[in-house]
Amino acid sequence: MSTPAVLRQSMRRFATSAVRRAVVPAAAQEPSATTIAVSKAQGVSYGLTGAIGNTPLIRLNKLSEQTKCEVLGKAEFMNPGGSIKDRAALYVVKDAEERGLLRPGGTVVEGTAGNTGIGLAHVCRSKGYRLVIYMPNTQSQGKIDLLRLLGAEVYPVPAVAFDNPENYNHQARRHAERLVREQGEGASVWTNQFDNTANRRAHIETTGPEIWAQTNGKIDAFTCATGTAGTLAGTTRFLKDISGGRVKSFLADPPGSVLHSYIQSGGKLAERQGGSITEGIGQGRVTDNLAPDLPLVDGSLHISDEKTIEMVYRCLDEEGLYLGASSALNVVAAKEVAEMMGPGHTVVTPLCDGAYRYADRLFSRKWLETKNLIGSIPESLKRYIVLP
Ligand SMILES: Cc1ncc(COP(=O)(O)O)c(C=O)c1O
Repeated sequence: MSTPAVLRQSMRRFATSAVRRAVVPAAAQEPSATTIAVSKAQGVSYGLTGAIGNTPLIRLNKLSEQTKCEVLGKAEFMNPGGSIKDRAALYVVKDAEERGLLRPGGTVVEGTAGNTGIGLAHVCRSKGYRLVIYMPNTQSQGKIDLLRLLGAEVYPVPAVAFDNPENYNHQARRHAERLVREQGEGASVWTNQFDNTANRRAHIETTGPEIWAQTNGKIDAFTCATGTAGTLAGTTRFLKDISGGRVKSFLADPPGSVLHSYIQSGGKLAERQGGSITEGIGQGRVTDNLAPDLPLVDGSLHISDEKTIEMVYRCLDEEGLYLGASSALNVVAAKEVAEMMGPGHTVVTPLCDGAYRYADRLFSRKWLETKNLIGSIPESLKRYIVLP
């Protein structure tokens, strides 16, 4: 018998076998009307970029019961590159294309050590562009390797402050300018995620409308931490506009970031001091992405690393969610906003990425001890500390 015939026969056998009848409940054979409607609406994604966004909005059941609110997490870890930064990556590249700054086969240059680089790597491969990444040489070899295996050319450079011309962001800009000088207009673009407002536009045009549609407009507050602030600014702008200002917005800030004190002091910019276990968030200035929408923000919260790490473990244990630290910080903020607003309110926050890239730290006893955070993990959750 030929191979396809054997396959067909064994599939027929499986289809009628008692095993199949036993393991597949009748209901699973008939998709629900919702499944069909969602699948039809999603249709086919034309290339990777079509699969960015439209992430599920997950009700955090335990936290919702605890606060008597609806605490909802937008599952941004389900983007193809694994984080919320896929949205910004797609928009800064689309913006460069629309403005004629990037011709086919051109080179995208960015300064990033994190998820934006990963998002850009996927978007650039999918669209046929080259990608060059500059990052501080203090970053782990793992991050460099990941970007290289995703096809990027990576330059780790000395970690110096932003006002030093050798800062990785300025080197990225000069690299793109050099390529344009040598190869002409359209050869290269520096996507400049911090101050390129195409980043904020991604969230005005996608994240905000998705949240509004998914909650049927029944949302009372949005909160998240900021790196570039594209997410907070764009989502806040959309939700404020569509709700006539009704939806509240709160900035959540980790230790080492100046924005909480900036908002609380009515606009005094302090020196950056200290640091946090979170990655991708925390800021020392008001970026161009944040500036137009900062006046719309209703308030801010400072979230300690102790609360964040506890929430990493709680989300895993109570909700089954394996989240990175910035997402856990956002969930703490959503819980505090829910408690502040009182029962019956709906609060939404992004779950920016998963814990996969951070597991060797977040679940390591030695690392937790070094950071003085082991005492913040409740005894009942210490069984998740599985790495030495
Ligand atoms: C894990 C993670 N969370 C949050 C953010 C912050 O998002 P935004 O740059 O839109 O403020 C980033 C940004 O890189 C990130 O990597």
